[in-house]
Amino acid sequence: MRDLPLEKAKAQSETCSTLRCEVHISLTGLTLFLLRAWRQLTFGTYGYLNFTKPGFIEHSKNFKAEDMETRIDGKNCIVTGANSGIGFATAEGLASRGATIYMVCRNKERGEAAQSKIESTTGNQNVHLEVCNLSSLSDVKSFVGLQIANLKSYIFLSQVALTEKWAEMNKSKGIGFYSMHPGWAETAGVAKSLPSFFKALSGKLRTNDEGADTIIWLALQPKEKLVSGAFYFDRAEAPKHLMFAATSCSHEFIDSVIDSLRCISGISAQD
Ligand SMILES: NC(=O)c1ccc[n+]([C@@H]2O[C@H](COP(=O)([O-])OP(=O)(O)OC[C@H]3O[C@@H](n4cnc5c(N)ncnc54)[C@H](OP(=O)(O)O)[C@@H]3O)[C@@H](O)[C@H]2O)c1
Repeated sequence: MRDLPLEKAKAQSETCSTLRCEVHISLTGLTLFLLRAWRQLTFGTYGYLNFTKPGFIEHSKNFKAEDMETRIDGKNCIVTGANSGIGFATAEGLASRGATIYMVCRNKERGEAAQSKIESTTGNQNVHLEVCNLSSLSDVKSFVGLQIANLKSYIFLSQVALTEKWAEMNKSKGIGFYSMHPGWAETAGVAKSLPSFFKALSGKLRTNDEGADTIIWLALQPKEKLVSGAFYFDRAEAPKHLMFAATSCSHEFIDSVIDSLRCISGISAQD
């Protein structure tokens, strides 16, 4: 360093730090790439073995027929996306067991067509249509404002980590929160949004009824038999995360999501 002019030494030191920075960025990139590849590989393999129809047939060997024989007359169930796919099969399955159904659909005509179909196949006349676009905050607010005071039980399809948090926040109130995976079902939604996947797994996807099976099972079980906050798949508690896939969220992150949801919907922390 003694022989170098000050500028040259400074330039050399800047080059070193630039190099260090580049190495750091490419290592992070490589790690993220490997993590993504690992997630895709493990999720794809796990899904192919478990989420497909053969997976359902295998798991159904442990199902108990009597679990689905319970009547739930008088129980209120809200089913979102109830005019097609898994939502329709869920609404129909719950209506056939006597529940009062609130079908939440964004399109009145499609909703009415599904409502009449469910009424005629199940003979249950307590099937109501609520027109609400779930991507519109004002629609959701007015729907919740109208319904919340009258209902005792709800079905929400929600994220695993939020379900866990809500279960913890409400454990003293006796309200159960559960998340589930339906497997891979042959629905219009999958055909439209994942055409290559739909084609590649043709004949191996579950029916809509098989996709709705665990949701209906959850609604029929006594609360004491279930674990609030748990994640269910094929009528059994299942692991929430894939091995070494870094899919779990920190408590701080979930808290910030809940704070944002409260802020958007104007609900205070006491509500
Ligand atoms: N099928 C699978 O293999 C699979 C796997 C994992 C998870 N899931 C999840 O299960 C749920 C149902 O999937 P699916 O395959 O049965 O889908 P689908 O056949 O496309 O049905 C989706 C339903 O949701 C309704 N919907 C969509 N956006 C809405 C909005 N903004 N407001 C109100 N309703 C809305 C649709 O109504 P319109 O008829 O008006 O479009 C339709 O009735 C989805 O959350 C999906 O991510 C499905």
